[in-house]
Amino acid sequence: MAPTLDLVTSAIGGLAFGGDYNPEQWPREVWPQDIALMQQAGINLVTVGVFAWALLEPTPGSYDFGWLDEVLELLHAGGIAVDLATGTASPPPWFTTDHPQARLVDLRGTVRMHGGRQAFCPSAPAYRDASSGLARALAGRYADHPAVVMWHVNNEYGCHNHQCFCPTSAGAFRDWLQRRYSTLAELNRCWGTSFWSQRYGRWSEIFPPGPVSYDSFANPTQQLDWTRFCSAELLECFRAEASIVRSLARQPVTTNFMSFFRPVDYFSWAPEMDIISNDDYLIAANATPDQLTAMTADLMRSLAGGKPWLLMEHSTSAVNWQPRNPAKVSGQMRRNSLQHIARGADGALFFQWRASQFGAEKFHSALLPHAGTDSARWREVVALGATLRAIAETAGSTPEPAEVGIMFDWNSWWAAELDAHPSIDFSVMESVQKWHRELWRRNVPVDFVGPATPLDGYRLLLLPGLYLIDAATKNRLGRFVEAGGTVLVSYFSGIADENDHIWPGGYPGALRDILGITVEEFNPLLADQTVKLSAFGPGSVWSETARAGSAHVLSQYDSGGSAGSIALSRNDFGCGHAFYVGSELTSAGLSELIATVLATAGISADSMDGVEILTRERGSRRWTFVINHTAEQIQLPISGRDLLESDRDGESVLVPAGGVAVIRLRSGS
Ligand code: GAL
Repeated sequence: MAPTLDLVTSAIGGLAFGGDYNPEQWPREVWPQDIALMQQAGINLVTVGVFAWALLEPTPGSYDFGWLDEVLELLHAGGIAVDLATGTASPPPWFTTDHPQARLVDLRGTVRMHGGRQAFCPSAPAYRDASSGLARALAGRYADHPAVVMWHVNNEYGCHNHQCFCPTSAGAFRDWLQRRYSTLAELNRCWGTSFWSQRYGRWSEIFPPGPVSYDSFANPTQQLDWTRFCSAELLECFRAEASIVRSLARQPVTTNFMSFFRPVDYFSWAPEMDIISNDDYLIAANATPDQLTAMTADLMRSLAGGKPWLLMEHSTSAVNWQPRNPAKVSGQMRRNSLQHIARGADGALFFQWRASQFGAEKFHSALLPHAGTDSARWREVVALGATLRAIAETAGSTPEPAEVGIMFDWNSWWAAELDAHPSIDFSVMESVQKWHRELWRRNVPVDFVGPATPLDGYRLLLLPGLYLIDAATKNRLGRFVEAGGTVLVSYFSGIADENDHIWPGGYPGALRDILGITVEEFNPLLADQTVKLSAFGPGSVWSETARAGSAHVLSQYDSGGSAGSIALSRNDFGCGHAFYVGSELTSAGLSELIATVLATAGISADSMDGVEILTRERGSRRWTFVINHTAEQIQLPISGRDLLESDRDGESVLVPAGGVAVIRLRSGS
């Protein structure tokens, strides 16, 4: 049995609280002060050594572990557990100098120089050797260290080097293609190379879709396979290190994901993790950043199969890498942390412990800010530690299962947004976020359903722009609706198969049967153009010419080139129902549509704009989390013990403006 997060939470006695600790940036005298302050804040888990390669291995093959021994001893003596990094995310200057062929080459052929981070080519044998060497040395030395409760392989794979166009990468791409297709004939078929004279006669003629893709349109299937390869190649880097660590140590192994990070298919990575862990940063310019936080946490819980996961990094306040980096308002850090925990995170960790005085991240917030302990931020950090201790009993519990799923597939995301498509105004992430927002506002729990996620237990599946659907998913969806499930499908879903070949016979070929409509022609709208709809309208971005088969028309286009054609429909298929929307609705229109679909699926919704209410459970014990993002105090009829504000048992709970509550429910409620 693979080790799990339970080992960590039982070692630290509850929910994790802490973050990245980079003692190498500070003189030794500071370390004991760090430990004392960590104790004051209630920190129980820190990630050590993420960017310490140059100090751990100052020259090739010779290690200096003395300082790390000292740090781990201090932490252990202070009762603070360690998530020990393999330290391989940023190779030292000697590596880049000694192995120039291992440097990353970007799309335009520019070679990445040293001085940032992740300057390496993921396929470079020299990188694989050097990173394996450091991982082996660290795992060998610290496997039995009592402070070490988990392993942190590398860091944020692909953050700066998700694709490399060097000759080594091209060779690795060809090898990957040979494994995928076996024969050139099959590759030629799947890539559709009879188009534009692209037929390949030898494997050596194939290259990554590099410079072609900015002066012409590259072959779409080649681009799709390249993106698949790049994600898989980074996973090989993880596997190489993880297998070494697992051969020497018994603690659980993770690498930190990056939320909805487009280049890496986390559904294919998740089964390789002992612990799903994630880094989530508020995107200040997003229309509803708190909802995006919830959506990311929903993705992580889904990747973890509903089991607990770990929030590896978020920020106490501002980050430094967005164009404008506002500070968090008072209470926001606590609400953000609780949003993740309510959705199954067994802790809230941060980047980073002590704010740096130098380097590219010196303006990034930290648990211990530049202003020191006499600051509102530090007091909030100490208070958050107390909050997490007060709700420690929730560790290991799982969120109530969701009945609604958003179908999501990285392959589809990649394929949907390739060039030479009907409209550049269609964005997968915008559609997903809009649809998720409608569920979030209504406190309807929702999962992200990946290509291999079993559909049992769901009553409603949403497909916002699921462009690519393979035969297996097509059949699964057919069975789901036939057996009584409800689906809501948006335009540009079910258009192509896994090779990005159009499903024949009219759009959406993969879903025509269940939807009972045939789209004959897309008719995207110009920028800022809108169309009138007879109901749920108006629409923007998209319209189309469609005819109904067995579907009932819910709305039609009343203006524009598709006037008279179906815009929204509902089909009864088997024992279930399939809804379709062919244009981009306003938030009011979408809200009305989602309400209709939820009612059809028999899912109750509890609309309290700005207040999140979620329940975690373990056996017969249940805890309800309330996160109040509004400026008003609220009273809710939830009976049980409020573990935070009042610590009292009552029939209702009072949640202050901007506050949170965690209520241990009375048994039976
Ligand atoms: C993450 C990374 C951290 C730090 C942080 C800043 O990308 O893992 O090392 O850079 O972001 O927000």
